[in-house]
Amino acid sequence: MDSKILEIIGGKRLRGEVFISGAKNAALPGLAATLLSSEPVNISNVPEVDDVIVMINALRSIGADIDIKNNIVKSEIKEIKSNIISGDIVGSIRASILFLGPMLARNGFVKVSQPGGCPIGHRGVDYHFEALKLMGADIEIEGNDIVAKTNGLSGIEYTFPGKTVTGTENIIMAASLAEGSSVLKNCALEPEIDDLIWMLNKMGADIERKDNDTIIIKGQTSLGFVDHRIIPDRIETGTYVILACLNNNRIVVKDTRPELIKTLLDILKRMEIDVTVKEGDIRIKPNENMLPVNVETETYPGLPTDLQAQLMVLLTNTEGASQIKESIFNNRFNHANELNRMGANIGIDGNIARINGKTKLIGKENIIASDLRASAALVLGALIAEGRTTIKNSFQLFRGYERLPEKLRHLGAEIRILD
Ligand code: EPU
Repeated sequence: MDSKILEIIGGKRLRGEVFISGAKNAALPGLAATLLSSEPVNISNVPEVDDVIVMINALRSIGADIDIKNNIVKSEIKEIKSNIISGDIVGSIRASILFLGPMLARNGFVKVSQPGGCPIGHRGVDYHFEALKLMGADIEIEGNDIVAKTNGLSGIEYTFPGKTVTGTENIIMAASLAEGSSVLKNCALEPEIDDLIWMLNKMGADIERKDNDTIIIKGQTSLGFVDHRIIPDRIETGTYVILACLNNNRIVVKDTRPELIKTLLDILKRMEIDVTVKEGDIRIKPNENMLPVNVETETYPGLPTDLQAQLMVLLTNTEGASQIKESIFNNRFNHANELNRMGANIGIDGNIARINGKTKLIGKENIIASDLRASAALVLGALIAEGRTTIKNSFQLFRGYERLPEKLRHLGAEIRILD
């Protein structure tokens, strides 16, 4: 774990354009999908963030001829040379679970460490296991590892007991090379899943989403070459859009897909913030008298849990009482405590955060970033706070935000990494 500390001198009014990177959570399953083909796979618009680099290193460790340059991944996995994906390489990321489906489908065996990732509460993988077992896999937990094997996967009819993003992705990938057809019901609707489906279909898979949450997959014997471009990151988009609402900033968020964060934009409009969307750009005119709101995180197309922390910062800056209910994860309010240390007035009651605004944030030493999105929220807090803030554990941020200090400096922020 690195010990980088982020230093931010707050209070600067930011202005200019910020360009959105490719979606981390689309790139990770896209990289896992390279395992399904022995032919070359090119993926562009891949954000060069730490979770992606971990995934690339893991693929290389099992035989991928893979590299990333200028956001383009070129990969070829002619042969899988190792069945073991070491915890030393993937231990830190949740997406390691995405090796399970493709490795079983291509290789019939895999040993991968149990997923790591953000400490944001219970993060089950039981639906992944249940579906893969029904397809014909044996799955055991040995110490910290998942050991899975199969003599061949078969198509299934399966209804996910709850909506899961990586679970849906894992089973789609496994089913793409399984014998026969699969019908998956109650699938998650996140656009990153559809990006994966689009990529797999270009590789020769036969996957169709029907009635929104049903996905039908006709298994193939092999998948081939693909050239695929990852969709823009809707969470990075939302993070900069929220920044644009703060401190009378004048920021235009560019090269994104605004429809992917429609729910957030609708909430901002309810707060009487002026939002203008033109093609791939979002222009915000902040409102000093914006209104408080009560909101709840939900699966797509609802308000993403991955924007809850950032929105909380905006609500500390809003006159009146606001409320956020976190419905996806059971421990995702770690940032509230740190924001309170900076002067916010946030009360936590189970999965409900009550934010009493408007409060003035004051820079603080040694604010602790507990997870990726919490760290983004603390950066937003520090940018509007008076004076100097230092954020510890800033490695969390670089797991998912590409060139964040550079993008912010371009807007006029004073931010630097102290070693
Ligand atoms: N769940 C189960 N059993 C399962 C699967 C999920 O109980 O087998 C529960 C989880 O415990 C959780 C809920 O279902 O309460 C949703 O979990 P989901 O599986 O959808 O989350 P995930 O696939 O692990 C992805 C993103 C997260 C994002 C969530 C929710 C990736 C790599 N990660 O995680 O992204 O918060 O969906 O949208 O796609 C982030 O980028 O900061 C991040 C945490």
